[in-house]
Amino acid sequence: MFSRKEIIDILNDDSKNDWLFSYADKIRKENVGNDVHLRGLIEFSNICKNSCKYCGLRKENTTIERYRIEKDEILEIAKNAVTMGYRTIVLQSGEDAFYSTDKMIEIIKGIKEFDVALTLSIGERSFEDYKAFRQAGADRYLIRIETTDRKLYEKMHPDMDFDNRIRCLEDLKKLGYEVGTGCLVGLPNQTIESLADDILFFKEIEADMVGIGPFIPHPQTPLKDKDKGSFTLALKVMALTRIMLPDINIPATTAMETLNPNGRIIALQSGANVVMPNVTSTQYRAKYEIYPNKICINDKPEKCRGCIGAKIESIGRKVATNYGFSHNKE
Ligand code: 5AD
Ligand code: FES
Repeated sequence: MFSRKEIIDILNDDSKNDWLFSYADKIRKENVGNDVHLRGLIEFSNICKNSCKYCGLRKENTTIERYRIEKDEILEIAKNAVTMGYRTIVLQSGEDAFYSTDKMIEIIKGIKEFDVALTLSIGERSFEDYKAFRQAGADRYLIRIETTDRKLYEKMHPDMDFDNRIRCLEDLKKLGYEVGTGCLVGLPNQTIESLADDILFFKEIEADMVGIGPFIPHPQTPLKDKDKGSFTLALKVMALTRIMLPDINIPATTAMETLNPNGRIIALQSGANVVMPNVTSTQYRAKYEIYPNKICINDKPEKCRGCIGAKIESIGRKVATNYGFSHNKE
């Protein structure tokens, strides 16, 4: 465990990176073992009411073609993922009110018929919605805090409220979800100190999962001319998160692979133990452009499953066959 000052010093000093990454790898192995959990990601709607400055799905972006996948097709996609061996399905979308409480409940119940763990990643909703989704069978929820720097948060999310984001995380915890959060690394004007605070925040709220990715500027957003985040800094924040929260689930994020062709494997060897391959049908993939140059946009679900399985085995790790709940509880 490190103090805030130690975390800041490590983030500022690149001379000990090799030590940091292998230490995080060791902590990962001791606490969550060699299994890598695969989560099949379904990007079911790219429609969003929000205006996050960094995100390509923001409502002001009129250049992307918007889509919604409805229940029956979502269930087909999920079933195919289950056939490929996935034991967790992640449903992700923009904040799209089309998916009412009742619609979501039907989709959740349908997916739970397949005997899989179910994660939702559909943004800010009311306590009542979260409760209804949990009762319908949802097991986990992902909602990144994005940054704990309140001023920066407000700049990045003009129509959102930091306190409501925290409220969501608290509600989800209360309702017994496994809660995933995380942050972006390399947002304009983000400080090293605030990244240290992000890590301490993950610990304070006892996150079950933490996803960390570099910021990648999208040409159709107000941040198009800003520098991209650093792959190495994102990896360092991830490695420190593993050291500070030894038994949680940490994904090797797709954004890391976008900046480095071997990014996910490097992440798996620096603290990560989860990968979230895309299982959405190929026709939708290019349209879910949160950031440019996303990987696998022309690939089929089967290709990604085979590709990532082979990569995981090539480094002497194993694809897990259980549901992959956090803290080793099965
Ligand atoms: N670069 C990197 N990650 C991004 N996200 C959104 N936009 C970008 C971007 N331009 C991340 C956010 C969100 C997750 C689904 O995608 O952190 O929580
Ligand atoms: Fe999609 Fe490798 S994970 S092709």
